[in-house]
Amino acid sequence: LNACTQFLPTLDGRALLTVEDLGGPAHLNPAQDALVACHGSQCGFCTPGFVMSLTACYETHQAAGTRPTRQQLADALAGNLCRCTGYRPILDAGEQMFDTPARCLDRAPIAQALQALATDEPLDYGHKGARFHAPQSVQDLALLRDTYPQATLLAGSTDVGLWVNKQFRDLGDIIYTGRVAALHEIRAEPDGLWIGAAASLEDSWAALTAAVPRLRELWLRFASPPVRHAGTLGGNIANGSPIGDGAPALIALGADVILRRGAQQRRIKLQDFYLDYMKKDLQPGEFIEALLVPVPSADWRFSAHKIAKRHDSDISAVCAVLGVRLDAGVVQEARFAFGGMAATVRRAAAAEAAVVGQPWNEATAKAAAGAPD
Ligand SMILES: Cc1cc2nc3c(=O)[nH]c(=O)nc-3n(C[C@H](O)[C@H](O)[C@H](O)COP(=O)(O)OP(=O)(O)OC[C@H]3O[C@@H](n4cnc5c(N)ncnc54)[C@H](O)[C@@H]3O)c2cc1C
Ligand code: FES
Repeated sequence: LNACTQFLPTLDGRALLTVEDLGGPAHLNPAQDALVACHGSQCGFCTPGFVMSLTACYETHQAAGTRPTRQQLADALAGNLCRCTGYRPILDAGEQMFDTPARCLDRAPIAQALQALATDEPLDYGHKGARFHAPQSVQDLALLRDTYPQATLLAGSTDVGLWVNKQFRDLGDIIYTGRVAALHEIRAEPDGLWIGAAASLEDSWAALTAAVPRLRELWLRFASPPVRHAGTLGGNIANGSPIGDGAPALIALGADVILRRGAQQRRIKLQDFYLDYMKKDLQPGEFIEALLVPVPSADWRFSAHKIAKRHDSDISAVCAVLGVRLDAGVVQEARFAFGGMAATVRRAAAAEAAVVGQPWNEATAKAAAGAPD
């Protein structure tokens, strides 16, 4: 996680490890050791970040019994943008930390301490007249949302955190979705993949790319591992940004959004959820419960493109996810979804109409590119 976007009460009942917990001068951890040996250390702001990212990568791969490729190391470091000393020594350190016998974090005492703290009680915390509610069930969340429709809904806080640390906004009362276990669920349903609104971006993209491997590059270029582990797909859809990367992918896949108020559910096409710039079809007291994503049949072809000023960890200038369903080389159906081209993420209806019924070839693609959307 990036500490600068996390609110303290969201850490209730969780373990927080910072760079100080990893190792001191007398006993550096494998990532720190390797950074020293490879001359990969940088300034006092950047080095702890590199150590944390490399350590997360180290722990993940040691647990899986794997060793990252150089590209996987680069992906793991996508959120650590400054590389004043150059990329090579840091990536070298990432490789070298696996050369010595494994020294992993001792998780047992942490797990034991967390078990001792575990409770079924929802958190209701007050500070300076504002309340922070962390319900544990969908029913309690729905009740709170209905009772306090003006409260700020908070998920991974990778957007909302910036309202505070960049814009100094006062959030007032907060309802936090991160403790509602049912909202983290990702499961196969008869209508498609159910992705709970509080499922992390990392888990959601893993499930989406398992169904549609061509989305993988978009997954890896979506923010960085710390943001993807904290942030949620529900938050990405709910923020209504015309340049978010989740909506073009989900609209091209034909996803529905499941909205909930009290005990009532409402299911609409995601493309109809966006009414105008940052304006959504979300009633007072309503919240996103899940996304329902049809798993495309084998006759669908997809491609995804993200254009941004920087390759790593940057918001899209344009994000396009294009899907066509073919029968004997002829387009039967098309969904072309674009972010960054209008006030909302939108389908290019004229371009879609231009390809349906046509053979799928370069001439058809060029005709679609010229269609007046
Ligand atoms: C460094 C950095 C890089 C980023 N890169 C990208 C990127 O490449 N592509 C991209 O698309 N985004 C990017 N983002 C934006 C952000 O990470 C995503 O939009 C993320 O998915 C937001 O999810 P969250 O859980 O953090 O939402 P939060 O910040 O908690 O909430 C976002 C909004 O959604 C609302 N909300 C949350 N849950 C619900 C719900 N269940 N029902 C109704 N409303 C809800 C909140 O009230 C708020 O308005 C980046 C952010 C940072 C800080
Ligand atoms: S090393 Fe920290 S700013 Fe470049």
